[in-house]
Amino acid sequence: MADLTPLLAFRWSPRSFDPEAELTRAEAATLLEAARWAPSVGNRQPWRFALGHRDDETFKRIVVNLPPAEQRWASRASVLVLAAHPRGGHPFAAYDLGQAVAHLTVQATALGLHVRQLTDLDRAGLTADLDLPGNLRPYVVVAVGQLGDPLSLPADLLAEETALRHRRPLGELVLNCENAIG
Ligand SMILES: Cc1cc2nc3c(=O)[nH]c(=O)nc-3n(C[C@H](O)[C@H](O)[C@H](O)COP(=O)(O)O)c2cc1C
Repeated sequence: MADLTPLLAFRWSPRSFDPEAELTRAEAATLLEAARWAPSVGNRQPWRFALGHRDDETFKRIVVNLPPAEQRWASRASVLVLAAHPRGGHPFAAYDLGQAVAHLTVQATALGLHVRQLTDLDRAGLTADLDLPGNLRPYVVVAVGQLGDPLSLPADLLAEETALRHRRPLGELVLNCENAIG
């Protein structure tokens, strides 16, 4: 961790978003611009986004299609971004979309923002409520905002918020660890 660029070392996924903080339109555009410049197979750019600012119509339509337990924290984010990719398209579309969201996440970190993603979505509800083209698959919702007070979270979420973060050691992840990195 110590050798990582601070943009990666300090990134983490909170739930304690500041419910008063707002993103400017320019900040929102910068996040989407970062996603736009992600690499993709054959430069297909199979990502589509709908971004809602807290309390606007798009935000409300995204929130209601999240599980109630997730709404507790996601509704505090400054923006919610629905990220989608074409159905039945290129087999790497979801991979490309994930990479675009990763770029968005790094850009958000550079702006002093935090990101937490969700995949437990009412996809049919999102398609209907956001009037998405039928050929798009809602894939993930990306909550972005400023860090708020963790003590304002419900007790169960506070425990998770303050728990130590873990990762598998490289020796478990790198198949030829000994040769590759010693
Ligand atoms: C694709 C994806 C889906 C996720 N879905 C959820 C979710 O439904 N609910 C949630 O609270 N966190 C969700 N997360 C957040 C992860 O739990 C979190 O990234 C992971 O625990 C690692 O923590 P870190 O991001 O702080 O390093 C999701 C993350 C990703 C990348």
